[in-house]
Amino acid sequence: MKKVFKTFLVVILLVFIAIQFFQPALNKHSGQVYTTDFTGIHKMPANMKALFETACYDCHSNNTNYLWFDFVQPARWLIEKHIGNAKKELNFNEWGNYSKRKQERLLNSMAEQIETGQMPLRSYTLLHKNARLSKEEIEILSQWLKVQP
Ligand code: HEC
Repeated sequence: MKKVFKTFLVVILLVFIAIQFFQPALNKHSGQVYTTDFTGIHKMPANMKALFETACYDCHSNNTNYLWFDFVQPARWLIEKHIGNAKKELNFNEWGNYSKRKQERLLNSMAEQIETGQMPLRSYTLLHKNARLSKEEIEILSQWLKVQP
């Protein structure tokens, strides 16, 4: 029995090592400045811009600030899947290309997602502590989002 358990552990370890070699493409498309970016189109103070960038841009933009453990599989797959799904719904870099109607819907949706604590994703803020929003930050962001033209 002991031997079976040992073999099992070795197999798990080997699988873990093997999957490290599968690294999907990074969500890093240079440090390009987008004229269509949300934070340029909606005028906001620098500290608010920083909030969006640290709490949302890792998934909802073309440039993710990866931390070292984001490169460890299977986290790498998970995060890349989140980014893909997030960008399909909302890419802050491409805000200016969205129709007025879509922008309005997204502004409402953002306020709601932030207020209800659904965004940023909890599974993400668990380890990415810098992306967490405090109660005051949630209040500031949602109030601001609601008065955007
Ligand atoms: C860890 C990645 C991640 C982070 C960080 C993140 N999101 Fe998301 N977001 C997603 C994913 C994935 C979806 C797609 C829907 C789902 O799976 O819930 C989504 C969906 C959304 C939607 C819904 C879009 C729609 O069509 O209504 C909004 C709005 C949104 N996010 C806003 C934000 C805001 C604002 C922040 C920062 C405060 C943020 N998100 C941070 C991953 C993320």
